[in-house]
Amino acid sequence: VITISRPSITSLEEEYVVDAVRSGWVSSHGPYVERFEAMWGWLCGETEAISVTNGTAALQLLLMGLGVRAGDEVVVPSLTYVATANAVRSVGAVPVVVDVQPQTWCMDADALDAAVTSRTVGVIAVHAYGHPADMDRIDAVARRASLWVIEDAAEAHLARYKDRAVGALAGGAAFSFYGNKIFSGGEGGAVTTGDRRLAERMRALRNQGVRSHDDRFAPSLVGSNFRLSNLACALLCAQLERRDDIVEQRTRVVRAYRAALASAPSVTLQPTADWATPAPWLFSVCTERRWMLEDTLDRDGIESRRLFPALSGLVAVREVGGNRHPTPVSDALALTGLSLPTYPDLSDEVVERVVAAIASVATDADPVLAAPRA
Ligand SMILES: Cc1ncc(COP(=O)(O)O)c(C=O)c1O
Repeated sequence: VITISRPSITSLEEEYVVDAVRSGWVSSHGPYVERFEAMWGWLCGETEAISVTNGTAALQLLLMGLGVRAGDEVVVPSLTYVATANAVRSVGAVPVVVDVQPQTWCMDADALDAAVTSRTVGVIAVHAYGHPADMDRIDAVARRASLWVIEDAAEAHLARYKDRAVGALAGGAAFSFYGNKIFSGGEGGAVTTGDRRLAERMRALRNQGVRSHDDRFAPSLVGSNFRLSNLACALLCAQLERRDDIVEQRTRVVRAYRAALASAPSVTLQPTADWATPAPWLFSVCTERRWMLEDTLDRDGIESRRLFPALSGLVAVREVGGNRHPTPVSDALALTGLSLPTYPDLSDEVVERVVAAIASVATDADPVLAAPRA
């Protein structure tokens, strides 16, 4: 079976992980943790990077660091993984869902504007499917309403917005290094920020609330354990050293799909705004004949994955009334969107098989209108 995703592991990853194991530094102290944090901060153009156990924990840590409280409202886009909403719920706050733009699949700033209430404290802008959100417009709305903004950049490693790296576009950013992400630590996550005081607070909250001047066993804050292991960071250090190769190979796959499908009558392709340099995460298309395409790919042994279901329909949002705004664009994406296998070692031959499957489900003579159009 051709899986939708597969991490790129070479002898360098093996070497670093074995080195970490042999050194005895298998827990969350060790040289790879510091090295990874320094490298990730530098790559994101941000002064502070903090490793954490996963992307959900990264979001939670940011929300805890910002002092989000029970009953606060945090605006999130409807096209995202449920983790974005679960992180908001984990601190007792209400995720208020708004629609995305057809041009970016990311949060619509006008919808954000319409969703602000006296209880709204902040915004999580998600860079969905590798494409950066329109941060300038989101920022303008947030500033008028005195809201903080953070980025959920779990899927958008090293993407660029108007020639600035994601991760340095707001008050803070969360990343995931799960196995299907561009760079992976097996599991893993990170937050970045340019706010030194927020970073200090988050470093303490990551480790049970122990601040630098506290007794190790008598913390002065109420925190948790979000520490990432030296083992995971060893894997991540190797991935980051190989970043050009990994990104280049994924870009080759995305370009091949785009070139082959540019004029396909059956599908619309994931859009790219002219100011965006997206990260080559999971290349995705929309088609009203999704079930046929899924079935055709499945019969050829090729895995595909539906786009995330609209967040407003999920219990994490519904049970606290965060679903009060219409989300027609993300609803349509959820019904028609399909992600295709995208990873560095994917051969041109498999790309051709996927393209052939798409061609076989609709022809010029029988056009399929895919929704929504940019
Ligand atoms: C947009 C988004 N946010 C958050 C997460 C959570 O990351 P993790 O799975 O590492 O907890 C993910 C991915 O898994 C994601 O895609």
